[in-house]
Order: sequence, then C-alpha cells, then structure tokens
Amino acid sequence: MKYFSYFIFIAFIVTLLLFLRNALKPETEQVYITGSEKCGECHSLQNIGNQSGIWINSRHSTAFKTLLGDKATDFAAKNNLVKPAENPECLKCHSTEYSLGNPLKSEAPRYSIEEGVGCESCHGAGSLYSPAEIMKDEGFFKSNGGIKGDESTCKNCHSPKGNKEHRISVDMCPFQENEFDYRTAFEKIKHPLNKDFKSDK
Ligand code: HEC
Ligand code: HEC
Ligand code: HEC
Ligand code: HEC
Repeated sequence: MKYFSYFIFIAFIVTLLLFLRNALKPETEQVYITGSEKCGECHSLQNIGNQSGIWINSRHSTAFKTLLGDKATDFAAKNNLVKPAENPECLKCHSTEYSLGNPLKSEAPRYSIEEGVGCESCHGAGSLYSPAEIMKDEGFFKSNGGIKGDESTCKNCHSPKGNKEHRISVDMCPFQENEFDYRTAFEKIKHPLNKDFKSDK
C-alpha cells in the first residue's frame, strides 16, 4: 500500500513537470495556407508575369470542381466509395489542404477548398514566406517553407505510368490514363517571372 502511494506521488510529479515543460516552451509560429487568391495580390500583376492568370486557366484550378462532376460521382457510387468531394483519398490530389497533409487547416479566411490544386500545393504553405522581402531572396524563401518545385513535386499526384485499368488505389487517380511526362506537362503550366521584372532589382 505504501509503495502504491509513492507511485501515485511520482506519477503526479512527472505529470506536473510535463505540463510545465509544455507551458514554458516558446510557441513556434503556426504555418498555414494563405490561399491562391492572396498570392494573386502580387502574382496577378502583368509586370511580374501574371502567374495567377496562367494558373486560373490551367486544370489545376478546377481540380476540386471535377470531384463534383458526373464522372467522379458515378465512379464513387459504382465502387461504394465516399462522395469524391468529401473523400480524403480523392482530395489528397485534388485540393491544396489535403495535398499538404490534413489537418494543416487554413486559418486564413480567404482560402477555400474550391481553389483545387492551388499555388501552395506545389510551393508549400505560404503564411511565412509570402512577404515580398522574403520572396526576393531564394534562401529566405526556402528557410520560410517555400519550395521551388520540380518533377518530384508533380509525381506526388501524377503517376508516371498512368492508370489505364482504372484501378482504385491511394496513390493513383482512377482517371489518369496517360503517362506523365514532365517536360510536356510543365510546358502546359509554366508561369515564369517576367525577366524585365527580375532585372529591375
Ligand atoms: C506581397 C507580394 C507577394 C505575395 C503576397 C506573394 N508573392 Fe511570391 N513573389 C513576390 C515577388 C516580388 C517575387 C519576385 C522576387 C524576385 O525575384 O525579385 C516573388 C517570387 C516568388 C517565387 C519565386 C521564388 C524564388 O526565390 O525564385 C515563388 C515560387 C512565389 N513567389 C510564389 C508565391 C506563392 C505561392 C504565394 C502565395 C502563397 C506568393 N508567392 C505570394 C511577391 C509576392
Ligand atoms: C496536388 C496534386 C498535384 C500536383 C502536385 C501536380 N498536379 Fe497536375 N494535376 C492534378 C490534378 C488533380 C489534375 C486534374 C485536374 C482536373 O482536370 O480536374 C492535374 C492536371 C494537370 C495537367 C492537365 C492535364 C493535361 O495533361 O493536360 C497538367 C499539364 C499538369 N497537371 C501538370 C503538372 C505539373 C507539370 C506538375 C508539377 C510541376 C503538376 N501537375 C503537379 C494534380 C496535381
Ligand atoms: C494520386 C493522385 C490522385 C488521386 C488519389 C485521385 N486523383 Fe483524380 N486526377 C489526378 C490527376 C493527376 C489527374 C489528371 C490526369 C490527366 O489528365 O493526366 C486527375 C484527373 C481526374 C479526373 C478528370 C478526368 C478527365 O479526363 O476528365 C477525374 C474525374 C478525377 N480525377 C476523379 C478522381 C476521383 C473520383 C478520385 C478518388 C476516387 C481521384 N480522382 C483520386 C490525381 C489524382
Ligand atoms: C502544379 C504545381 C505548381 C502550381 C500549382 C504553381 N506552381 Fe509556380 N512553379 C512550379 C514549378 C515546378 C516552377 C519552376 C521552378 C523552377 O524553374 O525551378 C514554378 C515556378 C514559379 C515561379 C518562379 C518562376 C521563375 O521564373 O523563377 C513563381 C513566381 C511561381 N511559380 C508562382 C506561382 C504562383 C503565384 C502560383 C499560383 C497562382 C503557382 N506558382 C502555382 C510549380 C507550380
């Protein structure tokens, strides 16, 4: 019985110490999704190269809406799956927040899941790197969570081989028939900075 009270006492002290450690830990800044519209405050300007306009005209910006369409909903019904627009296994590649790993929820009122595959799906959640002074310096951009993006970024969602059998799989789209070729695919979505803008610096 005596040992039991010792045990309770020690357990109490340990819990207290753990509590204090968490309470005293300096708070690290929460990173969140700002939403593509926010990036567009600067990146829709013509002098910088209007990356936002190029993205809006790409299929990435309609990737969430696709999940509400007949193709997606019929497929889910036939295969007894949760509705695509609510199904994390589809949203993982068809939305910004799930592609960045839920529960990285946005605290920004302007982000909406309807933006589909937004800027931050490829460039990383932007709350820390978005100020222009940070973005002017590639080193700062990266140390604040910015990602430049390359072929491996695309392959998080585009299967190199495609999925002609329309199989159900966590890491392949049942509708991606064609093989993924980085060079031709990037050509369709490229959105470079305006060279004149760059040399302005
Ligand atoms: C306040 C204005 C502003 C906002 C908001 C903004 N950017 Fe930028 N961004 C810039 C400027 C200016 C540059 C160009 C810097 C340079 O090279 O001179 C830039 C450069 C970049 C680059 C290239 C970085 C590099 O080092 O090569 C990427 C990628 C980028 N922005 C993505 C984004 C994304 C994604 C968002 C939204 C999460 C965003 N930006 C929001 C102003 C902004
Ligand atoms: C977060 C997931 C995701 C990432 C990362 C991603 N994509 Fe996509 N991509 C999609 C989805 C989903 C679609 C289909 C959208 C639709 O039609 O509803 C798509 C469609 C496309 C299309 C249009 C289809 C076509 O062949 O014409 C191109 C091109 C494309 N992506 C290129 C790229 C490139 C290049 C990269 C890497 C730089 C990339 N994607 C990264 C999810 C992603
Ligand atoms: C591994 C990432 C990934 C997953 C998981 C995923 N998708 Fe996709 N989806 C894509 C990509 C990439 C494309 C563009 C394919 C292309 O055109 O090359 C796409 C395209 C589509 C299209 C457009 C087809 C067309 O040509 O019109 C539909 C519909 C679709 N997906 C529905 C779904 C549904 C429903 C789910 C869940 C059951 C799902 N996707 C899961 C990545 C994914
Ligand atoms: C599907 C993935 C994807 C999406 C979505 C995307 N980007 Fe990019 N972005 C890339 C890749 C890949 C590069 C090329 C990086 C390189 O050249 O090293 C790039 C390059 C850039 C650059 C630098 C270009 C340069 O010349 O240095 C800027 C600025 C940029 N993106 C901004 C944006 C903004 C703003 C959005 C949303 C409106 C966006 N991107 C959406 C993948 C993406």
